[in-house]
Amino acid sequence: MNDSRLEPRRTGDGSLTLWSERFGECFHSGSGAYAEAQQKFVVPASLLRFAPGSRLRVLDVCVGLGYNSAALLEAAERQGLQLEWIGLELDPRPLTLALADTGFRKLWHADTLDVLRDLQRHGQWCSAAGSSGHWRLGDARRQLPDLVRTQAVGPAQEPAGGATARPPARSHYL
Ligand SMILES: C[S@@+](CC[C@H](N)C(=O)[O-])C[C@H]1O[C@@H](n2cnc3c(N)ncnc32)[C@H](O)[C@@H]1O
Repeated sequence: MNDSRLEPRRTGDGSLTLWSERFGECFHSGSGAYAEAQQKFVVPASLLRFAPGSRLRVLDVCVGLGYNSAALLEAAERQGLQLEWIGLELDPRPLTLALADTGFRKLWHADTLDVLRDLQRHGQWCSAAGSSGHWRLGDARRQLPDLVRTQAVGPAQEPAGGATARPPARSHYL
């Protein structure tokens, strides 16, 4: 499944994307992978609506090279917010290829790179500022029903036999 070709390409802002043989297209907009993460992910998240100290629960469906989550993590922690992050991804190679790229590494703070490296090597991470996360490798379509049941629904709504922990009162979902 993960033996199809992934070819590095540069986008308009100089940041790396990958062309996927499997999907027959690049993973990011030609105008800029980094810019796309900021404009389509961080800006719409409207982080200013959350008070410092809040914890945000984030589900990144299709982690890819990690741009969206790295950009969100930096923006959140700048603002004193912490993430409880879960990533879903079919193929770990895009993150590995991204971390091997000098230009990609230069985009991020050292702490963010540590997070991405821990994710790649160990499948989980904790940041110095108190955020944490892990990923589940596999088809997101199979993982989503289980995640929605266990993460988004508290015990009061849960059908008998499937109770899970209710999220802390000050958590927000992104
Ligand atoms: C467009 S890229 C994601 C780019 C990513 N948002 C980023 O910030 O770099 C799409 C990613 O989705 C993954 N993918 C495609 N189908 C998937 C599936 N059914 N389940 C999980 N991941 C999938 C691909 O392996 C690829 O890494």
